[in-house]
Amino acid sequence: MIKPTTMSRRIEKEFRFFLNGKAMTVRAPPCHTLLEILRYELRMTGTKEGCARGDCGECTVLLNGEPVHSCLTVMTQVEGKNVTTIEGIDPEHRLVRSFVEAGAVQCGHCTPGLIISSYALLLKRPRPTEEEVKEAIRGNLCRCTGYSKIVKAVLSAAGV
Ligand code: FES
Ligand code: FES
Repeated sequence: MIKPTTMSRRIEKEFRFFLNGKAMTVRAPPCHTLLEILRYELRMTGTKEGCARGDCGECTVLLNGEPVHSCLTVMTQVEGKNVTTIEGIDPEHRLVRSFVEAGAVQCGHCTPGLIISSYALLLKRPRPTEEEVKEAIRGNLCRCTGYSKIVKAVLSAAGV
């Protein structure tokens, strides 16, 4: 992937949005992705970069409360909106604790995206079914855990 620092900045635009509740202004070419801005401009590396083409879910963030792949979200889509990244979730949140307690974190590369997707689910469905959890994390790939511990962690956080 071409990093923003090496890309042409001839056509830059100012983008204003809210990042984890804080007003932000960045200048970037409109085609830059939110993932590029988060990781390479703002140095917020909690959001992971896996495939960079919408397949793995490692880059998942919330855009106005909805989970999106930040690698496929260009900055024109972010203008004026609320972005929530893993850095915006309290490390003591019950979901984070449940992932650790259930052994749902191994290499950890998928974990921020999974927590964001699960967090979005619990905002809408505080007591989801197992099927709803599986559906919510369907776009998040994990090579290590086999998913059962992840599902268990989300259900446990929900008190189900
Ligand atoms: S890095 Fe965005 S889906 Fe893989
Ligand atoms: S814990 Fe390694 S990819 Fe999920």
